[in-house]
Amino acid sequence: MAIPDIIIAVDGFSSTGKSTFAKLIAAEFAFLYLDSGAMYRGVTLAGLEAGAIADGKIDEAALLEVMPPLDLHFRHEDGTTKLYLGDRCIEGEIRGWEVSQYVSPVSAIPPVRAWVDDRLHQFSKGGRVIMDGRDIGTTVFPDAQLKIFMTADENVRAQRRYDELAAKGENTTLEEVLQNLRDRDYRDSHRETSPLRQAEDAYVLDNTHMTLHEEVVWMLGLLQGKFGLKESPGLSC
Ligand code: DC
Repeated sequence: MAIPDIIIAVDGFSSTGKSTFAKLIAAEFAFLYLDSGAMYRGVTLAGLEAGAIADGKIDEAALLEVMPPLDLHFRHEDGTTKLYLGDRCIEGEIRGWEVSQYVSPVSAIPPVRAWVDDRLHQFSKGGRVIMDGRDIGTTVFPDAQLKIFMTADENVRAQRRYDELAAKGENTTLEEVLQNLRDRDYRDSHRETSPLRQAEDAYVLDNTHMTLHEEVVWMLGLLQGKFGLKESPGLSC
């Protein structure tokens, strides 16, 4: 039996490796990968470019005017998914420091969430979809057939994030990274609209002591159990 056309929701704390995991699962089991955080980052970038976000302040009314006509969409290129604003690939810019600084408060604005949720539903019509974020299994797709909630020890998460930043040449300390991670988790879990929380029917994936290969094998076991897959496809990772 093949995997049916289902939606897999992957939620969890910051720096638990949600997108790395979701991309791998998408490649192994032929799912479309969608990164909901990228959409919030895209709105933030557009707000910065239009001057609706400046000098540490977000002009909410101006941001809500910038947003509706935005042509933010994903394109699938080179075996991965990239965010575009019109014909411009903004995948690099949305990961920069300035966007990262404002994206959490932008994502807490209810009309921004409603706009992004609407786009995510449009992008997910038909086929197998795996989407990662903070509220996919609780709000965006509460009926998703499979929900994963990712977590890991915060020191391990901070070390992984610190190693990533250090490899990019960013000048920071492990303590700063740990503090930033705690702040983001607190903000994301305590906002009023759609806070980060584990869906009751989510399977918890604690990858503190797991390799990526072990995570994929864990998922394969879940898919086999849930959908009666008898044979294991040869894993490529
Ligand atoms: O996953 P990320 O770091 O790219 O997400 C960027 C921000 O967007 C993060 O502060 C949390 C927020 N976000 C959210 O509120 N809901 C989602 N479904 C995805 C991301």
